[in-house]
Amino acid sequence: MESSSSVVYVESNRMSKRKRTVIDILRDSPGFVSGEAISGTLGISRNAVHKHVKSLRKRGYRILGISRRGYRLEEEPCKLVMPVITEMTANSVFGHAFRYYDEIESTNVEAKTLAVGGAPEGTVVIAESQSAGRGRLGRRWTSPAGKGLLFSVILRPDMPMGDAHLFTLVAAAAACEGIEAQTKIPVQVKWPNDLFVNNKKVGGILMEVAGEQDEIDWVVAGIGINVNTEFTELPVALRRTAISLKMAGGTPIDRSELLANVLLALEKNYSEALRGGFGRPLQKFRERDYLLHRSISVQTREGAVVGEATGIDDRGALLVQLPHRHVRRFHSGDVTLH
Ligand code: BTN
Repeated sequence: MESSSSVVYVESNRMSKRKRTVIDILRDSPGFVSGEAISGTLGISRNAVHKHVKSLRKRGYRILGISRRGYRLEEEPCKLVMPVITEMTANSVFGHAFRYYDEIESTNVEAKTLAVGGAPEGTVVIAESQSAGRGRLGRRWTSPAGKGLLFSVILRPDMPMGDAHLFTLVAAAAACEGIEAQTKIPVQVKWPNDLFVNNKKVGGILMEVAGEQDEIDWVVAGIGINVNTEFTELPVALRRTAISLKMAGGTPIDRSELLANVLLALEKNYSEALRGGFGRPLQKFRERDYLLHRSISVQTREGAVVGEATGIDDRGALLVQLPHRHVRRFHSGDVTLH
């Protein structure tokens, strides 16, 4: 089938000829190649070879380095296959304008720039790696190159700003649906934006928005999912609390198909919200509510509030039962299990 999608491949950080030669040398040799041999072939210092190897590792090449033996190429990055994605999403609102980056600062930052410049609804910004991936509440989002899904979509819903926060929940429910459709791994959502598998964080949503009080101009929904990340590739500080789909399911996952499945689920939930209101997407969120009936602590500007999570209301607020039967609604806040 002919597809009318446009894919712009942005080689934001084009690989230098020298780095490509380093890779060619390692690829041609099944065993170790000494740093000296590489430096001789390229006519550069061994220190420069080491720097090239370091930056290749950042791009997703797994290169083993052992002193006195040299370097061996263990694994090349497995890139997203854009034709798979465009074919699967051919009839979707999120299937006509893609920008694909090898490396970028943050897909959210790029999507916001594009949105301000007038990019149409449905534009999808994808990256294999981010140098400054952003998480909610000013946190960082890290993911080894070629192992996760890192993308942002531009939405232009004809709705008031007061509804904007609900798109975080719509995107979260859609991400769960898309992942489950392909992997059969059950995913839960920790209000408002964390995706959980086996009690550990597997992904998150970062939504940013601009507009006037009575009208949203644009929404950028950024989605990060740990897909084929290995335990040893997770930052040490996160190894107790984070997980990847591969770690949970035991088998590697086709990231291109997964991205397409999440985009298709996003389209379904987004159009449901536009046509029939937020009821259905919120219901899907509730079915996967990780916090339900747990004792939690909500960090607010005024301090921490402790209680039992009792659900999500029709405006997407978190309901918390406080002592003495009083139920409090939270529209924002950082939640931890108590
Ligand atoms: C969170 O859990 O705090 C949200 C994480 C969102 C990460 C994604 S990765 C793609 C997009 N670009 C970013 O810089 N952040 C989001």
